[in-house]
Amino acid sequence: MPNSRRPRRPKIGVFDSGVGGLTVLRALLDRIPDADYLYFGDTARLPYGSKSAATVAHYAVGAVRYLQDQGAELLVIACNTATALALNEIKAAAGVEVIGVIEPGAEAAAAATRKRKVVVIGTDATIGSHAYRRALEARKVGVREKSCPLFVPLVEEGWVEHPVTEQVAKIYLSEAFSEDARDADVLVLGCTHYPLIKPLLRRVAPEHVAIVDSAESTARAVERQLQIEPLPYSTKSARRGVPKLKFFATDSAEKFRKMGTRFLGLPVEDVLHVDLKE
Ligand code: DGL
Repeated sequence: MPNSRRPRRPKIGVFDSGVGGLTVLRALLDRIPDADYLYFGDTARLPYGSKSAATVAHYAVGAVRYLQDQGAELLVIACNTATALALNEIKAAAGVEVIGVIEPGAEAAAAATRKRKVVVIGTDATIGSHAYRRALEARKVGVREKSCPLFVPLVEEGWVEHPVTEQVAKIYLSEAFSEDARDADVLVLGCTHYPLIKPLLRRVAPEHVAIVDSAESTARAVERQLQIEPLPYSTKSARRGVPKLKFFATDSAEKFRKMGTRFLGLPVEDVLHVDLKE
């Protein structure tokens, strides 16, 4: 058994509807570099944010089964919409631990708010599910939910610092922080794409508001999970390692490579096109 004493690297599966979840992968790489990552972007079937719960659950379960077949030992559901609409179905179908983005995001928001009042922004489907509302109200935090469907296409267009995006953000956020939500002191970025416009949102959001990024808090939750699981590796030594990345996309691998590099902020190289049978 030549390798039995070497610290074991976790094999982490990350699932998203497309490239947006690479913001979560980025946060994971920063915290847990000594791991093998398998990232699945369902680019042929996105956006999930405008689809029904049944459709999203069906797509997501197929994708996480694929990740498990590739050897994923822990699954991160980077997509807010898939977490909001289908986490229970995904957990029921998976044979391994599953971490979604909503509980960690709600936990971080609850820790950050002094006024016990927060604003959550996300896709139509995420907001319509009220998954963030339930998670925050369970922590005795009041919530104003606001869907911002134009942000995803604007970010995908690369308009992260653009007057049109800024104008859209001004309209969305002034509606979100109105009336009884005027004194909310936390803004939760409840969508994979929003970390890319965080600097713009920072400028547009009221000054007293702290921004909570569910990508960051999810990476911390994964780190915690790896520490508390009695796996035979040390996270301390893990921090020094180099990650291994493999990507799967249901639409063109070339397109994923190009767009993914922008979302990840690192070269996206090893991409395999996958055709999931319906
Ligand atoms: N990944 C989705 C989310 O975080 C945004 C993109 C989509 O609608 O598919 O909600």
